[in-house]
Amino acid sequence: MILSITQENGKYPKPDPFMRMRPGNLKEYLKDRARKEDVGELRRGFEIIGDIMIIDLPDHLLYLKDDIVEWVKMKHRHIKTILRKTGETKGEYRIAEYEILYGSDTETVAREHRCRFRVDVRKAYYSSKLSGERERIARKVREGERVLVMFAGVGPYAIVIARLSEPSEVIGIELNPEAVRYFQENIKLNKVEGVVKAIQGDVRQEVPKLDGKFDRVVMPAPYNADEFLHLALLKTKSRGYIHFYTFAGEEEVEDRKRWILHEIEKRGFSGFVESFRECGNFAPRVNRYVFDIFISEVPL
Ligand SMILES: C[S@@+](CC[C@H](N)C(=O)[O-])C[C@H]1O[C@@H](n2cnc3c(N)ncnc32)[C@H](O)[C@@H]1O
Repeated sequence: MILSITQENGKYPKPDPFMRMRPGNLKEYLKDRARKEDVGELRRGFEIIGDIMIIDLPDHLLYLKDDIVEWVKMKHRHIKTILRKTGETKGEYRIAEYEILYGSDTETVAREHRCRFRVDVRKAYYSSKLSGERERIARKVREGERVLVMFAGVGPYAIVIARLSEPSEVIGIELNPEAVRYFQENIKLNKVEGVVKAIQGDVRQEVPKLDGKFDRVVMPAPYNADEFLHLALLKTKSRGYIHFYTFAGEEEVEDRKRWILHEIEKRGFSGFVESFRECGNFAPRVNRYVFDIFISEVPL
């Protein structure tokens, strides 16, 4: 596969029996249409969410737009809408701007780990690229755990955890009212009403109001996560875990670990970074990292 096209369940569509008659991949398809150096640039720019394909197509490659649309229609027949990202993911709600290249509907149902997530990509954040990470966290959850998901979006972390493991309760907090509307719908769609609860609001106000503490706190908000670690600590039980996501340069990772330890100790907690891993690329040499923090003791 020349292009790294991600699909939400990690699988590619079944090969079309007529495909042999058609161009095998986009690079080949564009061979006579695109400048050679331009084709390589398309590599990281595709994401499939349900039946929507999102393409990162810089302005100087716009001359390939119609050819790419034709290729997608031929090769990924289930795609009903093709969007071009016209701006970075931004704002508190982390939503990107899109231009519609094909189709019209921007609401879809994404599938991952036998869960379904309804989302309008123009109204709320969802990324299929994090589905492997959601499974990794869910598999760590032990029976009966109480889990808090800050920055819950349309519910993928909370719901995948509830479906793949046996927590007693999962609470998700999300600021964007549209995302929370989808989160509530997704709780029903995945039949986890008894376990997962969605709260609309700012974690700064909502977390301190929560009763009791949690065995595990998930913090999937990498762009300004530092501002919120103290809130996660406030609600983590002794011998609990915090999964802290952040963007960092490759050479900054050790510094980030030191910062986390400093934050923990400064607030009277004991703990350590049990493991960390890269889980996505943001820019050249800048990645999304997750730090799995074990809190051995909380202050009295
Ligand atoms: C990067 S998205 C992650 C969403 C979700 N966890 C996922 O993986 O799809 C971050 C989310 O945090 C929400 N958010 C940003 N600031 C927030 C705050 N102060 N309190 C609660 N949610 C917030 C945004 O609206 C956005 O949906």
